[in-house]
Amino acid sequence: MSHSRNKWGLLIAGTLMTFALASSLAGQASRATGAASLAFRNSVDTPPPDWHGPVFKLSHDYPKSQPKCEAPWLKRQVSFTNPDPQWSDWQGYVQDIIDYVKKGQDFKDGWNTDVGGQTRWYHVPWMAYDGERGREFVHGLTNELSTALSSFVTSTRGVGRGSGRHTLPGAKSTGGVNPQFETWSVGMYNPCGGWSIGQAFPPSGEPATYSKSGQNYARGMPFPEGTVVVKVLNTTATENDVPYLKGSTTWKANGHKQLSPTEYTLCDRQVRDVHLIQVDLAVVDSRSPTRWVYSTLAYDGKDYDPSKPGSIWDRLKPLGVQFGNDPMSFPAVAQSDSKPLHETVLAPISISEYEHYGCSRRLAGTVDQSNSSCVSCHMGAFAAPPPYLNLQGGTIPAIFNFCDMCATYNTANSQYFSDYTYPATFPSNGFTSAIPLDSSLQLAVAFAQYSTYKNPHALPLACPDAKATRKASSGTH
Ligand code: HEC
Repeated sequence: MSHSRNKWGLLIAGTLMTFALASSLAGQASRATGAASLAFRNSVDTPPPDWHGPVFKLSHDYPKSQPKCEAPWLKRQVSFTNPDPQWSDWQGYVQDIIDYVKKGQDFKDGWNTDVGGQTRWYHVPWMAYDGERGREFVHGLTNELSTALSSFVTSTRGVGRGSGRHTLPGAKSTGGVNPQFETWSVGMYNPCGGWSIGQAFPPSGEPATYSKSGQNYARGMPFPEGTVVVKVLNTTATENDVPYLKGSTTWKANGHKQLSPTEYTLCDRQVRDVHLIQVDLAVVDSRSPTRWVYSTLAYDGKDYDPSKPGSIWDRLKPLGVQFGNDPMSFPAVAQSDSKPLHETVLAPISISEYEHYGCSRRLAGTVDQSNSSCVSCHMGAFAAPPPYLNLQGGTIPAIFNFCDMCATYNTANSQYFSDYTYPATFPSNGFTSAIPLDSSLQLAVAFAQYSTYKNPHALPLACPDAKATRKASSGTH
């Protein structure tokens, strides 16, 4: 790799980068042995002595050879080019994925990584590094908004997706106060995806990268067909705040201590209840213009009847699918040239109560940003070659809240809403040194965290370790 010629190197040049690289070289020898233990640790905190509930264990015994994975949806005859697609064309496809994912999961004690005596789900390393937002000990949940790349590296400095706080659509505002609810989530890859992750992060905990014809890559990329990813998103809102949360799960999470309806601490953690609100799905399908198909399930407990509780899965409703960004639609093109969307297919359900769409009705989930969409945000999954820092708009593409995101037709929006496919560089040849991560934003977080670890003086963590909770109330969930 020829670091000195990189465009981003010049852009971010000056004190930060010089400092970052120098400190990383100086620190290399003494910290080398620590990488594996930090990469694969279970959580940033530890259970208090009186804890009797579940304790999260990182699933990282990644398959050593590429497995075969059952993927019945790949046999479905769906069209990725139909200009007027219907939800009925896609319903069976999404149901096949749900059937695969829900096997062995009742949400009682958390997400089971073992199904039928075999490891079915694997976690991403390095997500228990940052004490502010990193994995908590009960279910391995991370503070969702904060796991944004920019947030990890800019921490409390107000850049990027921000503070880790979020307003939930549909929540009641009381007495002029608009309460903020945190989202705590955990993502898992099936054995096909787990194989890729184990290639990118071998047991040393150091990312495995290489360069070929002047381009930088991570080993194991792209994810093979058969890859399935699921992400379980939980909110601190209750059914009193958000009526359709009736009958949702109650998991414990060592989340941030809440100071007021709108304020949370950064480092102090406290065990509290969180409730399932959204389940995200993503699969590799080589027929897709982006190689990926995304779907999201919204929890809907409106009609929940405690005398007939049924299964949580019955109350998780698909909102649609998205397999591309619709680059011929606003704001990728001018409003006057905009074609109807055909790479997002929305399910015809009444979603007004608990859902907002993404940008111009592209797909987004209940607690996602409404000026983005699944595919536009995810195709920005890149990492600066280690040990360079991951700075959105500097060394890697900006994926959260850039100026005028979704608001006007401009270059940034037409890049953000284009159809990217691995192994291309980000559209319009920006960030040419950045490593493409085939739309895995968790891997992007892992790389970002690793680089933060390698540059401890350039960007010190706001909370090196989450403060352990004392006198936690223990529970079974
Ligand atoms: C504005 C950005 C953004 C949007 C919009 C978004 N995501 Fe993500 N997503 C992330 C980030 C950041 C992560 C990684 C950190 C984490 O898991 O908390 C992630 C993680 C995931 C994962 C786990 C695998 C991975 O790539 O790391 C899945 C699956 C996923 N998202 C699906 C979806 C789906 C489905 C939608 C749309 C309904 C969606 N996402 C919308 C930012 C976004």
